[in-house]
Amino acid sequence: MKAYIKGIGSCVPARKVSNDDLAKTVDTSDEWIYSHTGIKNRHIVEEGGAASDLAFGAALAALKDCGENAAAVDMILVATVTPDYLGFPSTACVVQDRLGARNAAAMDISAACSGFVYGLEVARVFIEGGVYKNILVIGAETLSRITNWKDRNTCVLFGDGAGAALVSAGDGTADSSGRGIIVSHLEADGSGGSALIRPDGGSRNPFAPDRAPGDTLFFRMDGGKVYRFAVDALGRVGEILLAKAALDISSIDFIIPHQANIRIIEACAKRLSLPLDKFYINIQEFANTSSASIPIALADMKQKGILKAGQLIMTVAFGAGLTCGGNIIRW
Ligand code: ACO
Repeated sequence: MKAYIKGIGSCVPARKVSNDDLAKTVDTSDEWIYSHTGIKNRHIVEEGGAASDLAFGAALAALKDCGENAAAVDMILVATVTPDYLGFPSTACVVQDRLGARNAAAMDISAACSGFVYGLEVARVFIEGGVYKNILVIGAETLSRITNWKDRNTCVLFGDGAGAALVSAGDGTADSSGRGIIVSHLEADGSGGSALIRPDGGSRNPFAPDRAPGDTLFFRMDGGKVYRFAVDALGRVGEILLAKAALDISSIDFIIPHQANIRIIEACAKRLSLPLDKFYINIQEFANTSSASIPIALADMKQKGILKAGQLIMTVAFGAGLTCGGNIIRW
């Protein structure tokens, strides 16, 4: 019995912010952003919006996609680095309540932009171990909430959004054609943690009641260091996945990379000796939505009729931690 993706959906805020919009408030330009990253637009939550609002919308869309209802869900995993609350309750519990998923356990996963591929593997193991039948894996982020909008090195790169997959146990017919999560690979290198960090607000440097948090509310990034890690990680993870699954790259129909920077995706294509059109790319519209970027891309592909039953797809991601990983899935 294999764990397979039964339903997929996404939820992106309606408010679109273009590069030209950003250039009105920070020293940047559409030309710089597009030529260095491939980004044209990002979507940002309205004031008061939180990760669970987007996670809830994506979960509803994934359940609708496969005709399941919330009562059938055994577990909710929300991959996020922008939870509704620092610590607790988890965003997964907030979503569980809003969905009315009364039979579901719920917890968050913190693996930054690799969170969704981590979540798929956690779900696969629970399902193939016979513990659960239906697990909602959600990537949901509101990075706009922890972005320093005066820092042009970071604020142009990110957007808000959520994507969700209902991962289910094959019933002997759904997985008889080999449909399912075939193999995953997950890695971490905590020695690179400082390259992408939100240093304050946790137990190491708690916000103090007698000082205004100021810029320490925001995350910081060493763009060059993350870039070098990413260029190595994406291609390497792809090669490891292929070796684990004993597959040749020519059998992969589509690669769905984490959408952080078109130049990182181009480097991955070069390493795997693949043309860029084998990669699904929607960074121009959504920017980097961290853990949400891969499920948003999958939902996009499904909606456009690009994803077809029987296709072999590969996900590859990298993120803060530092983390990286991926999955090979027969759709
Ligand atoms: N607009 C205009 N100029 C800018 C901007 C901007 N938005 N940002 C930086 N610059 C300037 C810099 O100040 C620098 O100017 P200088 O030469 O006068 O000092 C110049 O552009 C070049 O800067 P670089 O940092 O060398 O630009 P680079 O081409 O390396 O691109 C980038 C920077 C896009 C951040 C790249 O390093 C990158 O994509 N890194 C990976 C980031 C990433 O993927 N992060 C997400 C990780 S996933 C997660 O877990 C959240």
